[in-house]
Amino acid sequence: MADPTVVKREVFSSRNVFILAAIGSAVGLGNIWRFPYVAYSNGGGAFVIPYLVALLTAGIPLLFFDYAIGHRYRSSAPLAMRRVGRAKWVESLGWWQVLVCFVIAVYYAAILAWAGMYFIFSFNQSWGDDAQAFLYGEFLQLADTPHIGFDFVPQVAMPMALVWVVTLVVIALGVRRGIARANVVMIPLLLVMFLILVFQAIMLPGAVDGLNAFFTPDWSALTNPGVWAAAYGQIFFSLSVGFGIMITYSSYLRRRTNLTGSGLVVGFANSSFELLAGIGVFAALGFMMQATNQTMDEVAAGGIGLAFIAFPTIVSTTNLGPVIGVLFFASLMFAGFTSMISIVEVCVSAVRDKMGLSRVMATAAVGIPMAAVSMLFLPTTTGLYFLDITDEFINKFGILLGAFTSVLVVGWILRKLPALQQHLDRVSSVRFGKLWLGLVGILVPIVLGYIVFNEILTKIQAPYGDYPAGMLGIFGWGMAGGIIIVAVVIAFATRWRRDVVTEIDEAALNVKYEEIMQK
Ligand code: ALA
Repeated sequence: MADPTVVKREVFSSRNVFILAAIGSAVGLGNIWRFPYVAYSNGGGAFVIPYLVALLTAGIPLLFFDYAIGHRYRSSAPLAMRRVGRAKWVESLGWWQVLVCFVIAVYYAAILAWAGMYFIFSFNQSWGDDAQAFLYGEFLQLADTPHIGFDFVPQVAMPMALVWVVTLVVIALGVRRGIARANVVMIPLLLVMFLILVFQAIMLPGAVDGLNAFFTPDWSALTNPGVWAAAYGQIFFSLSVGFGIMITYSSYLRRRTNLTGSGLVVGFANSSFELLAGIGVFAALGFMMQATNQTMDEVAAGGIGLAFIAFPTIVSTTNLGPVIGVLFFASLMFAGFTSMISIVEVCVSAVRDKMGLSRVMATAAVGIPMAAVSMLFLPTTTGLYFLDITDEFINKFGILLGAFTSVLVVGWILRKLPALQQHLDRVSSVRFGKLWLGLVGILVPIVLGYIVFNEILTKIQAPYGDYPAGMLGIFGWGMAGGIIIVAVVIAFATRWRRDVVTEIDEAALNVKYEEIMQK
């Protein structure tokens, strides 16, 4: 068996740069665009409880799970899974994660492009008096009824193409020159902009009413399994766990790196940012309630509406307006962009490992087809319907189901959790030992299994969002099932480049790490 230590890999220049990149990946559209609405529609203040439970019982433990796999096996998700399980069917779990990223990137690019355009619109308030009519009617040119159509909307297509070009250029530049630099510049800027934004928002008249609406708990929500599913789904999406990102990023770490310490920083930074986003957004909505004489339910309607209708309206109504709009949409762009990079990198690094392509070639080989699919479906008059269905199904039956399956396979079939636990404890300052084993091996599979099973039943009983069965069949169920089939096909039908070590010697690896830690 080959010596695992020969594997050469790009590395982040320091642990701090890795932490910034991991925070950059975690803090994204999920925090600013998704969290406030998900929290509000799932019990408001009471949502904080399942949210924190999900963070502590599953989010952070699975973050360590991803870190341990990526760092120990130092490879992209499919190769890491192959090395963990020494079998093609286990490798297919890695490809499944890669394909989840493929799907997310396809629609993520669209929201980023909207944020970019709205950043520009903020300067002269292009939406006029009616932000809702502008968004759906003029900007997205949304079709009246959901159907599958390909009527192109050029003003969405152009910024989307730009998003793809910039993302692929950054990735082609590599881990240090591209990914790390983008994060080192954007994340501190994002933090400063967002703090100013939140401060301004809570100073607005009516802000208190918005915060009251957000934080007033609806305790009955806690008995609803759907609320718990939403909390776990939000934590996974937001922390970037369970879909290959953290496996990929931690594969670029030096061997001597404190994994759990870094994970705790990333996990708490992400959730702090998320709560801050909730406070900022709801303070602003409180202002809007007062200014437009509406209820919270009216001003907070629709996840997408929240960012792209509420904020433009606020911009038009306050005299601080343009500043708020510019800061908000710039934050959305920066946060989303650093996440977009990490999502696409999962796919690029997997194909690189498998085919031995140079970084630039792999970026082109992966990025161009991804961008093509994205440009085909999203900048159309039906793109928003496609996005809504895909986002819901990929979260529940890509990320959650995928995480459940990985934990079950690695923990219960391959019985590799003790080795991963020892790895984490060997290199980290904070050692979780058996507590981590219990959470990942027992609690997470039970909770995730229940949630996913319940979601499947719910979605069968009541079709999501009242969309036509054909659309749910293709973009929902078909997409979620299709990527599993494609993942298995890739794992079984393609070969590793000749010099890739797919079977590593675990004992030699342990000795190597002992030596490194003793130095
Ligand atoms: N973690 C990323 C987000 O929150 C994907 O948007």
